[in-house]
Amino acid sequence: MSERDPAALSPSVSAAEAPAERLTITVWVNGQAYTRTVPARLLLVDFLRNELGLTGTHIGCDTSTCGACTVHVDGRSVKACTMFAVQADGRAVRTVEGLAHPTEGGPGERELHPLQQAFHEAHALQCGYCTPGMLMSALYLLEHNPNPTRDEIKRAIAGNLCRCTGYHFIIDAIELAAARMRQQGDR
Ligand code: FES
Ligand code: FES
Repeated sequence: MSERDPAALSPSVSAAEAPAERLTITVWVNGQAYTRTVPARLLLVDFLRNELGLTGTHIGCDTSTCGACTVHVDGRSVKACTMFAVQADGRAVRTVEGLAHPTEGGPGERELHPLQQAFHEAHALQCGYCTPGMLMSALYLLEHNPNPTRDEIKRAIAGNLCRCTGYHFIIDAIELAAARMRQQGDR
């Protein structure tokens, strides 16, 4: 029993009854700072979805299995259900909402990231539930390996499950995006 266990402080108060500790954090998400006071045990994925309304990051399992919640934290690929929001305090988080570039076409106009465009063209999504996590894992790969083999792509998305089993098209799309990004020098 640790010193922080509420039951250790008062045997008559169970951990379930104790008030949740709350902390104020500032997290940079897609280049914007958000300050919120959150429960210490709030998961990063729930912070993104429920506190910030960024519901592009999906929850498929909550047990670190499916990869639907994949985001980047300080440039590293992370399953957001494996991390507390307070652990992201002061860090830079990139979510799928941060992939498309704003254009000069008007407010709200955005140009798809080459990966998003390739997924669209190569039919790499069916229900789309796995797609945000697939995109973020693929982006992490291409940021570190601009010219991956198909085997390297398979390894990069090994932690992302597609229940629609569209893996061949997903790999095709990542290859297509990689080729275009090499051409454009857009990593
Ligand atoms: Fe995080 Fe499935 S919701 S890995
Ligand atoms: Fe449906 Fe992957 S497209 S889970």
